Amino acid sequence: MDRIDVALLGLGTVGTGVYKMLQSNQDVIARRTGLLFEVKHILVRDPNKKRKVDGVQHLLTTRFEEIMATGVDVVMEAMGGVEPARTYIERAIRTRCHVVTANKELIAKHGAELEKLAREHGVQLLYEASVGGGIPVLGTLQHFLKANRIMRVSGILNGTTNFILTQMGEHQRPFEEVLAEAQRRGYAEADPTADVEGLDAAHKLAILSRLAFGAVVSVDEIARRGITDISPEELELAHRLGYKIKLLAKAEQFGEEGPVALQVGPTLVPLSHPLAGINGVYNAIHVEADTVQDVTLVGQGAGEQPTASAMVEDLCNLFRLPLPRPLPYRRPLVLPVWEEGGARFAFIETKDRLGSDISHQVKERLKRFGTSAVDVAWLPGAERGALALILRRWDPSLEEKLTEELGLEAERVVFRPLLGMPEPVGEEREEKISSAQ
Ligand SMILES: NC(=O)c1ccc[n+]([C@@H]2O[C@H](COP(=O)([O-])OP(=O)(O)OC[C@H]3O[C@@H](n4cnc5c(N)ncnc54)[C@H](OP(=O)(O)O)[C@@H]3O)[C@@H](O)[C@H]2O)c1
Repeated sequence: MDRIDVALLGLGTVGTGVYKMLQSNQDVIARRTGLLFEVKHILVRDPNKKRKVDGVQHLLTTRFEEIMATGVDVVMEAMGGVEPARTYIERAIRTRCHVVTANKELIAKHGAELEKLAREHGVQLLYEASVGGGIPVLGTLQHFLKANRIMRVSGILNGTTNFILTQMGEHQRPFEEVLAEAQRRGYAEADPTADVEGLDAAHKLAILSRLAFGAVVSVDEIARRGITDISPEELELAHRLGYKIKLLAKAEQFGEEGPVALQVGPTLVPLSHPLAGINGVYNAIHVEADTVQDVTLVGQGAGEQPTASAMVEDLCNLFRLPLPRPLPYRRPLVLPVWEEGGARFAFIETKDRLGSDISHQVKERLKRFGTSAVDVAWLPGAERGALALILRRWDPSLEEKLTEELGLEAERVVFRPLLGMPEPVGEEREEKISSAQ
């Protein structure tokens, strides 16, 4: 049995999970890989902190130099943040250590250059845990979808926001109330900005786009909108029209080596689509490619155990799977997204109650100014009404003139993109949904 010496950087949520799994599953790992992984050092910030695992005190250090001086085979980074993680990983690679990391921010921003460095030094850098927690999506892209041309990757990549939207939609609860509950339950950080504004999902989308298309895109180039302006009424009306609103991360490539479009934002997902049924803290990634057609991977996108699982699987794969394909990374043309044509969902909060003939009235008025609604849903409201439309064709001038043309006194109007084409309406829609379930 070969022994592999490991250094763990960080003993927080993820690091603790990794340490525990290496103990609890040592027999399985040894049997299936013929390898014995031994944690030799654990880097932490505060060695006096109470830890969630016993018997680690003698392994703790605050000095990375000490770890490098004794020499290990693999460095597993679970600290987070760009610095000092980046410096430590570079140093580990230069001393010919393999590296496994869960750090999405670092890999989104510096993954391409770190991978290049690793290749130059004959070691590997694996980061499965950085996208979708326990879901083996990066391995799937690298090892099992090599021969396919991937056109589009769409995903629910943030469990916190998916939990919030699920609760708001199922129980008609406002955003702030559900966010507070998510924080109490440990699903959301004290500062939830990175999650609710879509930055966390954008980091993951940048990583997915590199592996799916070989396209290096900076996180700043990803069009991004958050979920803070979504109301329970909007979710309710979207549902009546046959959709769930999800914080969707979507990357598309137009032709081999062609331009790409990347966006993170609230998007209407048809109820018949596999991503519409992903609720709570679950994550999912839907890959569309020329030959396999489509594949959906679902699982727990965060948390101690799922994330540790991805890191430990990477650890085994360093020694038991071939090197991931050496992608010729490129910097593609990044297309603007929000202005693109196609269908849109419009949600309008009105200053007055809505009358019972509003649906007919809206459809007629839309026809007069040359656009049409596939479907309309509305809530009369006690004092204010809410109206939602699926518009067949979008043009940016509608932002200005829609409510005026409809003759509505609007309190607020939002437009959201749809995933794919508008859903059929009426009986046809019911059939489609029931055949998908
Ligand atoms: N939590 C999840 O569910 C999850 C899921 C996927 C990916 N990730 C990624 O995994 C990484 C770790 O997340 P986490 O939730 O485990 O974080 P965490 O609970 O805050 O733990 C961070 C650990 O790193 C140590 N650390 C931080 N800065 C350090 C420094 N400068 N020097 C030495 N040690 C340092 C901390 O030491 P002390 O304990 O002494 O403070 C702590 O043990 C992040 O990149 C995160 O994005 C997390």
